Amino acid sequence: MQISQKEAVERLIEGKLVALPTETVYGLAARFDDLAAVEQIFKVKGRPKVNPLIIHIDEEYDLDTLVQGYPEGAFELMHTFWPGPLTLLLPVKEGAVLPLVNAGLPQIALRCPLLELTRSIIRQTGPLVMPSANLSGRPSSTTAEHVERDFGDQIPVLNGGSCNHGMESTVVAYSQGRWHIARQGAITSEQLADALSDLFESGRQLEYRQEQPPICPGQLLRHYSPKAQLILCKEPENIPQNSCVVGFEGSVYPPGCRLYSLGSGKAIEAARLLYAALRSLDDAGAAYAYVDMSFEDAGLWRVVRERLERASGF
Ligand code: TXA
Ligand code: MG
Repeated sequence: MQISQKEAVERLIEGKLVALPTETVYGLAARFDDLAAVEQIFKVKGRPKVNPLIIHIDEEYDLDTLVQGYPEGAFELMHTFWPGPLTLLLPVKEGAVLPLVNAGLPQIALRCPLLELTRSIIRQTGPLVMPSANLSGRPSSTTAEHVERDFGDQIPVLNGGSCNHGMESTVVAYSQGRWHIARQGAITSEQLADALSDLFESGRQLEYRQEQPPICPGQLLRHYSPKAQLILCKEPENIPQNSCVVGFEGSVYPPGCRLYSLGSGKAIEAARLLYAALRSLDDAGAAYAYVDMSFEDAGLWRVVRERLERASGF
């Protein structure tokens, strides 16, 4: 069921859930301070309660009501990337958020989305929690139709067209004097290094598996997976004939292969098309598919690679 912006605002204020477009992926939105609505998010998505939610704010919001102290470089990051697809983990002020929102962790995740439509709703409702609008573990939704496919009439959706980035926000955390990537996403490691220079640890993703409590609990879970088993393939010429192939227009695959397109070889296009391609494998009932992994390992390509590795259960 699709609804107008006005209806979306009314429902949110009443404590109901709606799906909203953002520049990254569609989000399943609820007011951040409404316990029943937040509980409903976990239920509807089938999301484990150990996996906390990003709080989405507009550009006018007074962060001091939620945040207890800002690590070096935090304002630089907000200034450079907000509004936009960067999520900052920041120390939470005691009692400022429902424990369910941040899984009782010492930090909250904050993001100010780029899409004006999203921010205009937040200006009317106050901060919203918004996990990606997909069933837990499945590919994210980059169109209103994807949301309807996952949730049917249960969740009304505001149709804002296809998401421009098609890739979730990058989540960054501050630890031992530097910022690290806790979840790769639409803002690349190279962009963060440019903005932060010495304050950014670019060498590796934060070792979230070894931290206690975990820095970004969602990263431990199975993610982004279609029902089809993905077989990652560095040498696409070795793909068997007549296979389903997640790959590129203009590339040559063995005879009879059916292409699920990631565009014509630009990273930005591959990111934008990735979840739709994985979802259309399922629509076609494919049991497995080969993925053409013969692309670079830098910038946004690295993010696309990571998503495909996780989707394959790598
Ligand atoms: O682009 C996005 O970020 C989208 C759109 C809708 O804004 N949202 C999104 O939310 O991707 P979700 O819930 O699918 O992913 C949020 C990630 C999870 O890995 C979660 O564990 C992590 O952020 N996260 C959220 N709050 C956190 C917190 N307080 N501490 C550590 N990690 C947190
Ligand atoms: Mg998600």
